[in-house]
Amino acid sequence: MSFDRATDKFRTFGRAKGRPLSPQAQTLWDETFPDLKWTIGTTLSDLEAKDELWLEIGFGGAEHLLWQAEAHPDIHLVGAEPFLNGVSKAVRGIADASLKNLSLHHGDVRDVLAGLPDNSLSKIFVLFPDPWHKTRHHKRRLLRTEFITELYRVLKPGGELRFASDIIHYVDWTLSRLKRFTTPEGGGWTFTHSAVQEWRIRGEDWPGTRYEAKAGREGRPCHYFKFLKH
Ligand SMILES: C[S@@+](CC[C@H](N)C(=O)[O-])C[C@H]1O[C@@H](n2cnc3c(N)ncnc32)[C@H](O)[C@@H]1O
Repeated sequence: MSFDRATDKFRTFGRAKGRPLSPQAQTLWDETFPDLKWTIGTTLSDLEAKDELWLEIGFGGAEHLLWQAEAHPDIHLVGAEPFLNGVSKAVRGIADASLKNLSLHHGDVRDVLAGLPDNSLSKIFVLFPDPWHKTRHHKRRLLRTEFITELYRVLKPGGELRFASDIIHYVDWTLSRLKRFTTPEGGGWTFTHSAVQEWRIRGEDWPGTRYEAKAGREGRPCHYFKFLKH
């Protein structure tokens, strides 16, 4: 089943803008963003000699995104984020580290997903998605079944989905949907954690984020998951 962006009308993010960009940030944006912008419909074969394509959804302040791009020069990473000031931080970080393997989508990741062919990504990161606590807002949660179906479609067999949250109710919500998910061919998600204690370990090759640090300061334990597409 493929995802119908037109019928999925619920907005999943909060603020799209914070303070106006500083003149320096605006200049850097004007000069570099056109070349960093992810063109919907691009595939791995359009990129210069990269082994894999990865996607980070809702990268916030881009701490994790920039770290992964720097640590893995042989992959190409796409980051999607509607919050202008977050995207501006990514633009700054790319310039500072002279990164060449990172593209940005300033907007809703569902538009990026809709342009990706089946089985095209090797990793997807969804770190601390907005929890939308109130029941009447649950329809705004990103990890609804339709979205999970779309992530499944674009991931390669054996590809990895990483998810983190500090909100236990959202963890339960997501795990139950991932566990229930099956395709007519018997496909689904393989859980890579056997013990609950492992959920508390971020693991290697997985740096922290700003939102996560805030959760820690406010006393909320964080949970980390890796699922493989089978
Ligand atoms: C709670 S923040 C976490 C940010 C970051 N991952 C971190 O851990 O610091 C959730 C982020 O997801 C973004 N987001 C929500 N819906 C999105 C969508 N449809 N496409 C892309 N990003 C989205 C929000 O704008 C927000 O920056």
